[in-house]
Amino acid sequence: ILAIAIQLLVLLEFLPFSACDDLRRSHFPVSFIFGTSTSSFQIEGAYLDDRKSLSNWDVFSHIPGRIEDGANADIADDHYHLYLEDVKLMEYLGVNAYRFSISWSRVLPRGRNGGINSLGIAFYNKLIDALLLKGIQPFITLNHYDIPQELEGQYGGWLDSQIQEDFGYFADICFKEFGDRVKYWTTFNEPNAVATYGYMTGTYPPNRCSHPFGGSVGIVVGTDWFEPLRNITADYEACRRASAFYFAWFLDPFVRGDYPPEMRKILGGRLPKFSTSEKKKLRNKLDFIGINHYSSLYVKDCMFSTCDVVGPLLAGFAAPVREKKGVPIGKPTAKPNFYVVPRGMKNIVMYMKRRYNNMPMIITENGYPQGSYHNTTLKELLNDKERVEYLQSYLSSLHEAMRQGADVRGYFIWSLIDNFEWLYGYSMRFGLYHVDYETQVRTPKLSADWYRKFLGDAKLLI
Ligand code: NOJ
Repeated sequence: ILAIAIQLLVLLEFLPFSACDDLRRSHFPVSFIFGTSTSSFQIEGAYLDDRKSLSNWDVFSHIPGRIEDGANADIADDHYHLYLEDVKLMEYLGVNAYRFSISWSRVLPRGRNGGINSLGIAFYNKLIDALLLKGIQPFITLNHYDIPQELEGQYGGWLDSQIQEDFGYFADICFKEFGDRVKYWTTFNEPNAVATYGYMTGTYPPNRCSHPFGGSVGIVVGTDWFEPLRNITADYEACRRASAFYFAWFLDPFVRGDYPPEMRKILGGRLPKFSTSEKKKLRNKLDFIGINHYSSLYVKDCMFSTCDVVGPLLAGFAAPVREKKGVPIGKPTAKPNFYVVPRGMKNIVMYMKRRYNNMPMIITENGYPQGSYHNTTLKELLNDKERVEYLQSYLSSLHEAMRQGADVRGYFIWSLIDNFEWLYGYSMRFGLYHVDYETQVRTPKLSADWYRKFLGDAKLLI
């Protein structure tokens, strides 16, 4: 009777789960995906090896002044040559999945006209096989920001609808070459970031696929959780608009067949209109939603009052704000606009659950940045207690959402190893493993051992 009463209290949330026990791997379903993620541009290096051509990010990162520390990703983590070592790192952690992306310019260096690069295909085949040999499920991102520079040159990349066919062609090749072994696919990583930063702020460079092998296809959006700055209706509404303009922008069409009503209301005819047949084609086309989640922000209304803040969310008359009465929304980190707010994880997942009828979700990225600009010594970088606390608290929050019925199927830590962090170059480190860029030596941080221990608990279940 006591056991039933306690379970009832937990279910009704009178007793927080964490008060009963520390969160363990075994509290998640046995089949739950636990992985780490990376992307090709950020780790592979070998930027011109084996017939790979230049990507738009290769070109962009070579323009002086574009990357904070003047770095480029020509070598990055040299994963192209060290992939077997990196698979060993994953084996050590005990993950059952690995999220990585395929470099379009490695597979099709000259676009559709130049033929498939067998050496590029061979690399991913070797990687996939090495993962499977260790019981690690490959989880492929078809496009993680970078596209062949040639497509930029030929017709302006994403600005021309010809890219749809080119991307379809590239995706088909990947499905054909790897689909016999890869069961999880995402099309685009953070198209909202590519569109916003590539075509709105200008700080980044400028699909349906049938799945003949029965794999699961989703899309990955970048998210923040938004909370009203003040307890007033206008700020609550601003939060709704902020979420719509930030990520529902890309999810609503694929689930509901149209752009979010919050966007339509403001942008009217400026948003492209889908025909009835396009809507039908779009609707319910995702097998799962991939969520990249790291941080939260307050939001302030700018529809009914003026805001002097700038930012992409302003299109929705909502201004992101970091502090309430001088107190930041969470503990600040090495990255601007990046605060530690564990409750954001549960809230974002519950938002998706409500808005998209509890469609399966996978947390495709969650992680903690360290900045080597902040006098961070090697010892401090390795002893990343803050990252461990961050991951633990975000996972607990995720678990709480699952206990409230959210259909979450997996969780990936960004990132397996330190890597090229876009505009920050190598000055910002997200890895569970430290990388010494002079020697390419990988060293586990405290967080790697924490993840390993956490995942090791699953063995008790088998
Ligand atoms: C978003 C991106 O998908 C990834 O490439 C990036 O490095 C991480 N988040 C951390 O900022």
